[in-house]
Amino acid sequence: MAEIICLIGTKGGSGKTTLSHMLCYGLGLLGRNAACVMTDICRQPPPHGALPYVFADGRTEQARAKIISALRARNDWIGVIDGGANRMETDSALYAESDLVLLPFRDSQEDLRVVCSDLARLPRAYALPSQWPTNPWQYKASLRLLESIPEEFRGRILAPVFSISSSKLLLQTQPAGEFPTPLNNTCRAVARYLLGVLENGASALPAAQTAIGASVRIQRVLATREAETYKQMDQARRP
Ligand SMILES: Nc1ncnc2c1ncn2[C@@H]1O[C@H](COP(=O)(O)OP(=O)(O)OP(=O)(O)O)[C@@H](O)[C@H]1O
Ligand SMILES: [Mg+2]
Repeated sequence: MAEIICLIGTKGGSGKTTLSHMLCYGLGLLGRNAACVMTDICRQPPPHGALPYVFADGRTEQARAKIISALRARNDWIGVIDGGANRMETDSALYAESDLVLLPFRDSQEDLRVVCSDLARLPRAYALPSQWPTNPWQYKASLRLLESIPEEFRGRILAPVFSISSSKLLLQTQPAGEFPTPLNNTCRAVARYLLGVLENGASALPAAQTAIGASVRIQRVLATREAETYKQMDQARRP
């Protein structure tokens, strides 16, 4: 039976669509059968070129039900459902239908407030920091934001998916085989990590696998990079 992952949440522009495609693309690169199912009635299907996953238009309830039951009838498939913002009723239906529920959010207090109320409403869901800053200074601020998350939710906040400008290529017409290596690597890593979370079966994650655990490790890498940047800036300042 196929596994179903949905990306939902009340906040608009949190990265649901981009992450759905990144995940499917990563799954495809790992040799898994993946289907990306769009459900947002306010959007048109994006161009879907020679990508290693299937795209399905599930914008009506009937179409969505048909796609999900077709997927469920197959083994070794993963369906990734891209939700829409501000649709609590549809979110509840997708939540009930899914094996893994992801709530992307960005690095702002407003996003955090919304995602915490979604986490309280949807107790099997995980929050997924999305489009996360890679700049060391912004990153420090984002870590402080993560540390302000109430204790009860911390085991349900996943390691961040960083901002990667080439992610938009997945949603535009693109000749086959021309995706940049960093995009391929990021999508593979996201898919591997989320397959692990899927196996975790909706329970709280060990601290090392959560956003804060991952962020502390990443912070060490960024601190080295920051020290190097200061050194280079200092050298460049000299005549
Ligand atoms: N990891 C990322 N790196 C860089 N840009 C990103 C990333 N994720 C999302 N974006 C950008 O953020 C914007 C919003 O993303 P997206 O459309 O995926 O959000 P959404 O949750 O599907 O929005 P909506 O609620 O309108 O459906 C887009 O411009 C997208 O290209
Ligand atoms: Mg969207």
